[in-house]
Amino acid sequence: MRYLAAKCASGSNPAGRRDREKMTMSLAKVILLTMTTAMAAHGTVTKATFGNTSDGTAVDIYTLKTEGIEAQVMTYGARVVSIKTPDRDGKVANVVLGYSALDGYLDDGKTYFGAIVGRYGNRIALGKFSIDGHQYQVPVNNNANSLHGGTVGFDKQVWKAHEVADGVEMTLVSKDGDQGYPGTLTAHVRYTVHHGALRIDYSVSTDKATVVNLTNHSYFNLAGDGKGTILDNEMMIPADKFTPVDAGLIPTGVLAPVEGTPFDFRKATVIGKRINDDNEQLKIAGGYDHNWVLRGQNGEMKTAARVYEPGSGRVLTVTTTEPGVQFYSGNFLDGTKYGKAQEGFVKNAALCLETQHFPDSPNHPSFPTTELKPGETRHSTTTFTFTTHAK
Ligand code: BGC
Repeated sequence: MRYLAAKCASGSNPAGRRDREKMTMSLAKVILLTMTTAMAAHGTVTKATFGNTSDGTAVDIYTLKTEGIEAQVMTYGARVVSIKTPDRDGKVANVVLGYSALDGYLDDGKTYFGAIVGRYGNRIALGKFSIDGHQYQVPVNNNANSLHGGTVGFDKQVWKAHEVADGVEMTLVSKDGDQGYPGTLTAHVRYTVHHGALRIDYSVSTDKATVVNLTNHSYFNLAGDGKGTILDNEMMIPADKFTPVDAGLIPTGVLAPVEGTPFDFRKATVIGKRINDDNEQLKIAGGYDHNWVLRGQNGEMKTAARVYEPGSGRVLTVTTTEPGVQFYSGNFLDGTKYGKAQEGFVKNAALCLETQHFPDSPNHPSFPTTELKPGETRHSTTTFTFTTHAK
């Protein structure tokens, strides 16, 4: 740059002028290049229309892009629609299950693909809980229990969105009494991309005491959407305990040691190795569908899981401030729905790692509390980081 500037300053004859003009152009190019490089270090965000819900509400889709990752999120359910990352040879693929058009999501009330689930992620026994002596009843939509916030949870609502640096922030105001939950709850969910990572920052506040447990329900298949099952993936969860469940998948309240069980993922283990073991907990859920009690403090950032897919070499590392992670091995996918890759979503086609407070916490005073009081704002962060591992 200094060399170019010195050359520009020299000479006043026509040849000198031409020289000067050339130098000015080169200087401009260098400045532009420097600016572009600086910009490339940040994510780019673009917005497009994705369709309309049945009542005509417009749904937008945002594409967030930076080195090593491109993620799409839409305003219907604040859902992750795709995450594209390179494999060990640099070949890019979408690693989450989803549909190519909005209709697929509108027609599918059961999978919660990519959604922010709430107000209460996972189950509340019989849909009942009490706060300060008041009994509340929320919709029972999963056998005898309430799952993922009820019949019309946050996954089925259209969120407001605005662009932020490297991402998008989604906001939902859920009115007092929405699905039977007390208090007007304001939820902000901010998605940002950072060098191979998708970060989700949650913040929630209320005007009346309530319970809240938000999580993201993305289904990962690190080989690529529609590429077989996750049974050969190796997974590590740094947790010494998990929460066993009853026949309705409600925690019994016991924090059971993973030691000596198929739930011990403290050392990376192939998921399919023990999934069909003669184990009562696996039989109840038809595979893994349980909450692991993470080591470390609630509110402190820590590793929740790491998954390695041997074929592509992709590695997913999940970190969170939440106290638990629900590892769900896609047991209820039954091949009847077809996605972007035109492949049926078969059993175990993907896995979910839902960072969260424990299921049914409102009915287990010994679990970390999910109560939120007026005047409080609860923050929570989860990151999904994609890297690769050589053969
Ligand atoms: C639950 C599963 C449920 C799945 C899809 C998971 O969070 O634990 O039991 O089938 O979500 O709804």
